[in-house]
Amino acid sequence: DWTSESVIAEQVARIREQVGDKQVICGLSGGVDSAVAAALVHEAVGDQLTCVFVDHGLLRQDERKQVEEDYVQSTGVRLVTVDAVDTFLGALAGVSDPEEKRKIIGREFIRAFEGAAADLVAEAAEGAGEAIEFLVQGTLYPDVVESGGGSGTANIKSHHNVGGLPDDLTFALVEPLRALFKDEVRAIGRELGLPEVIVSRQPFPGPGLAIRIIGEVTEERLDILRRADAIARAELTAAGLDAEIWQCPVVLLADVRSVGVQGDGRTYGHPVVLRPVSSEDAMTADWTRVPYDTLARISNRITNEVDEINRVVLDVTSKPPGTIEWE
Ligand code: XMP
Repeated sequence: DWTSESVIAEQVARIREQVGDKQVICGLSGGVDSAVAAALVHEAVGDQLTCVFVDHGLLRQDERKQVEEDYVQSTGVRLVTVDAVDTFLGALAGVSDPEEKRKIIGREFIRAFEGAAADLVAEAAEGAGEAIEFLVQGTLYPDVVESGGGSGTANIKSHHNVGGLPDDLTFALVEPLRALFKDEVRAIGRELGLPEVIVSRQPFPGPGLAIRIIGEVTEERLDILRRADAIARAELTAAGLDAEIWQCPVVLLADVRSVGVQGDGRTYGHPVVLRPVSSEDAMTADWTRVPYDTLARISNRITNEVDEINRVVLDVTSKPPGTIEWE
């Protein structure tokens, strides 16, 4: 029988057996999965764990602050932040193919973790420490399946922490959530005492806004998308729709322009797509029937407040045949 307690007990035992008395790092993304994975490992091996938050410049507004504050305050876990904005944006320059973006991001995450691990060893042991060999990831069952890791499944997209890992990976992975679905992960997080702001957070993909810019990722495009996304999120929250909506990607069609009119002038701006979905486990999803008034407010505010955007469109495709993210 599945209970949170039994899964926790089983995973804690497995983690202790795998890791022994060695040091471990865990990539924290701000999302539910990595937060719960870290909490499980913390439960198992205490302060042998250091969490690493990689700021890749692909985050939403205020996200870094949330991780640095919420997570550390509620768990007391040791956290280091890696500033990797230039590295990620440099590696992504000129790339518009979705799978190529995912592979680059998966690789750069690992490089960032390797760098953080080396720094930790150097600091802790005055040069005499052993290399950190274990990396915790919050990989879920659907990530494995959709990256083509399940038996008989095609590769739909390479999740950054599964199919997007580099071939020369030297870390041994600790993945205590690999058999679980999101609702089970949330139950475990609650059982471990994580606060509701973390546990009920809507999913946000590790590759972040990079896979929500259709076309090349640039700093300017990230800035445009970040402003539109913040408006959509604020209005959906204000309308009381957070629980009903699994997540609502806002997607920037960066290579598309359309003609519009604003004030008494012609505009030639970009469209954004709203992709509100309802789902149980992200394996299938339906588009959420967001009330027209809320859609109208989001559209008005985005086109008024984000100069570069002159059109807001709604994605009314279920999964399948669409996926939740556009890339
Ligand atoms: P799709 O687009 O495949 O998304 O229908 C299913 C769920 O997975 C999230 N997603 C990711 N999460 N790394 C992640 O951590 C990834 O590479 C990734 N790709 C998609 C997506 O936001 C949705 O919740």
